[in-house]
Amino acid sequence: MYIAKNWKDYEILDMSNGEKLERWGNIILIRPDPQIIWKEKLFPEKWKKADAIYRRSNEGGGHWERIKNIPDVWQIKYNNLVFNLKPMGFKHTGIFPEQAINWDFAINKIKNEKRHIKVLNLFAYTGAMTTACLSAGAEVCHVDSSKGMVTWAKENVKSSELEKEKVRYIVDDVIKFVQREKKRENYYDAIIMDPPSYGRGTNKEVWRFEENISDLVKMCSEILSDDPIFFLINSYTTGISSEVLANILKINIKNKGKITNGEIGLPMSNSNLVLPCGIYGRWEK
Ligand SMILES: C[S@@+](CC[C@H](N)C(=O)[O-])C[C@H]1O[C@@H](n2cnc3c(N)ncnc32)[C@H](O)[C@@H]1O
Repeated sequence: MYIAKNWKDYEILDMSNGEKLERWGNIILIRPDPQIIWKEKLFPEKWKKADAIYRRSNEGGGHWERIKNIPDVWQIKYNNLVFNLKPMGFKHTGIFPEQAINWDFAINKIKNEKRHIKVLNLFAYTGAMTTACLSAGAEVCHVDSSKGMVTWAKENVKSSELEKEKVRYIVDDVIKFVQREKKRENYYDAIIMDPPSYGRGTNKEVWRFEENISDLVKMCSEILSDDPIFFLINSYTTGISSEVLANILKINIKNKGKITNGEIGLPMSNSNLVLPCGIYGRWEK
């Protein structure tokens, strides 16, 4: 497992009984996490410091309960990247901190290449990966079906002082967009995707991970440039092994290279505990 251990502005302070206590800059949040099935608290006194808690409701969904007066938006940094955080529905803050593993991987690959690199970032959400790739000097095409998420991504790019870099924001269904790029013969040196388990395109097209991932990877393999550098899939879909991502890459990517897969996770401060968060499959040349 790769563990995202280079954070200064984020840490897990404790985890117990279905919840994690996290510090995001100066703000301390409690959020649900289904992996945390143990009951013990290692630092019970730290839980009293929480500023807000995301409470699940029995009818599905949930809401944020503010214990202290937290701002609607605040910022944290990861190296030179600046992200705007907001307490959102579905326990989100706008950043998946374990994905620092993926950002570092992409930054290193792009920087090592020492040539102009074109990246396609699919299901790009609030653009953390877009800012990472721009910071490494790549040109990025950022695709997401949600206008609100694309606006948020632009804010993160601006806060990271990268708005002058070459970035194209596309509000579209991922599958439709990739089909169009194939017709237009628009090729990419690196493709990144973080597909949800279930999602909707701009015209309510249904995305289901199990049904659609294999076809999407196949389509994407057809818009790889003559000298691609990597193809990265991240996933949180329950029940899917990272070996499955590796198999899909092995079947579809014919270029010579290395395929690896595994889990990504977060360390808990002042302990030897690690929280498994998601999986990845990577092809790299
Ligand atoms: C939960 S996010 C993925 C996690 C995120 N990339 C991150 O930072 O880790 C999924 C994103 O996919 C987008 N999405 C879902 N279905 C889509 C589709 N069919 N086409 C384009 N974007 C889609 C959503 O709007 C959302 O921003």
